[in-house]
Amino acid sequence: MDTNCNRPTEIDLMINDLWYKNAIVYCLSVGTYMDANGDGIGDFQGLMRRLDYLHGLGVTAVWLMPFQPSPGKDDGYDISDYYGVNPAYGTLGDFVEFTHAAKQRGIRVLIDLVVNHTSDQHPWFRSARSDPNSQFRDWYVWSDRKPPNAGKGMVFPGVQKSTWNYDREAKAWYFHRFYDFQPDLNTSNPKVQAEILKIMGFWIQLGVSGFRMDAVPFIISTKGPKVRKPVEQYDMLRSLREFLQWRQGDSIILAEANVLPETDMEYFGKAGDRMHMMFNFQANQTLFYALAAADKGPLVKALKATRTRPATAQWGMFLRNHDELDLGRLTDEERKVVFDAFGPSKNMQLYDRGIRRRLAPMFNGDRRRLELAYSLMFTLPGTPVVRYGDELGMGDNLDLPERVCARTPMQWSTEPQAGFTKSNNPVVPVIDTGPYAYEHVNAAVQRRDPNSMLNWTERIIRMRKEVPEIGWGDFEVIDTRGEAVLVMRYDWRNNSVLFVHNLDDKPREIRFAVGLKDESDKLLVNLLGEDHSSAREDGHHHLLIEAFGYRWYRVGGLDYLLKRSDIDLGKRSKGKK
Ligand code: NOJ
Ligand code: CA
Repeated sequence: MDTNCNRPTEIDLMINDLWYKNAIVYCLSVGTYMDANGDGIGDFQGLMRRLDYLHGLGVTAVWLMPFQPSPGKDDGYDISDYYGVNPAYGTLGDFVEFTHAAKQRGIRVLIDLVVNHTSDQHPWFRSARSDPNSQFRDWYVWSDRKPPNAGKGMVFPGVQKSTWNYDREAKAWYFHRFYDFQPDLNTSNPKVQAEILKIMGFWIQLGVSGFRMDAVPFIISTKGPKVRKPVEQYDMLRSLREFLQWRQGDSIILAEANVLPETDMEYFGKAGDRMHMMFNFQANQTLFYALAAADKGPLVKALKATRTRPATAQWGMFLRNHDELDLGRLTDEERKVVFDAFGPSKNMQLYDRGIRRRLAPMFNGDRRRLELAYSLMFTLPGTPVVRYGDELGMGDNLDLPERVCARTPMQWSTEPQAGFTKSNNPVVPVIDTGPYAYEHVNAAVQRRDPNSMLNWTERIIRMRKEVPEIGWGDFEVIDTRGEAVLVMRYDWRNNSVLFVHNLDDKPREIRFAVGLKDESDKLLVNLLGEDHSSAREDGHHHLLIEAFGYRWYRVGGLDYLLKRSDIDLGKRSKGKK
């Protein structure tokens, strides 16, 4: 299979099956979305009642954060039973009703698969710590002595003090890559590996279409007191995929792996035989730099560095998620620029590397910048992943600790508690003061306003779905002078689209040639407005783009669907590449 491009003929016919190549994913926590039974905690019944909202917004898949039984010390990422539903959210029965109701609306369900570690309250760990001869002892990672690297490799620096803790009951040290209440599973143990497959098989049977796999690099790493430099065992990824695809052909794994581009193909598999999807953390971090500095340079570099992927693989593109905006892969200077622009005070930053705010407050609620950021994200090579509430421009509550600040309840209406719950005591306080209070920012009011962020998002999602070139095609970055305007063209099945983004707070004049072999590139039809562009005699388009402006164009005209070919016909550019 050609790994260098996105359009191998042999899979063209699979277009309707590889749903994740061109999906719109929406991520949410059941506990903060909608509370149906009035106890203050969101639940599956409530989420089900909001499926029509999600359907109307146009999303084609939802990704649920962990909802299994859990002591809740890391918002559910500390699971104490992989085969159940946290009773606060409902029952397995409710879960199946939910996946069924989603399916009826054509919405797929992805769930978090958190198997790098369990909660320390999981019966496996309780058994393992209580008895050296327990059948679960080897399911975790132990050491008799304090390992020399115990003070290294923390994922939450500043909050987490070490990666090894002494357990008095076990009379031994246990390894925890994350918080100390999250003992790492010994994922090299074949019994643990078999259990992971069993967990996947279980949820597949209950109607999910796949998994967002938590902490993948750590799952596949060698672990132990003697491991100085963990080594990734990439082969494990193939067994996960084989199992999943044998059980249900169109289910997928979306990997959380914040890794360098040189190892991307290890994760995807050279023959496309490992992860179906990965989040593109390189693009995410450089995108925020681009927005902060009005400099596309590092973003373009990241897009080119992550261009190579198997034809069946896809990037997940995102702006914000439930964690901090991790800027750890930027240079110190770049990170400083982003901090200065979007998170200047210490209180807004987290773990010495990121920003914990939601999107809208980072941009001071500036609608032009929000649209620009979204428009960019929606037109990067991959599948967009939208964070709940960002479609409204929801804010954060920096009085809440760590990442909880950006996990407040969904703001549905002007009713008490934002219409999230009938209880006066919601699980996380609703935002009720300042410019992002639910009285101002909520779905009901925005629904009635044709110019709201919500209706803008709905329209852009609709348009994004009609531009499959982004998900399936190959891209080219088109030269314009200066760093502030990004122009990208996608080609697929004899069609091309072109996107222009002005990162600057000043209007910019640009001039460029679209670069196709034929004459069709002399006309650019604006998909979002009436100002189309015809090339001048020199063959170049001349555009004046307002501050933070963006344009979505079809190249050639609106007869594109009449011209679309059944299989891809290769490069449409002038010259070689
Ligand atoms: C990554 C998740 O996104 C984060 O929220 C969590 O705390 C860690 N993994 C540990 O599971
Ligand atoms: Ca409830």
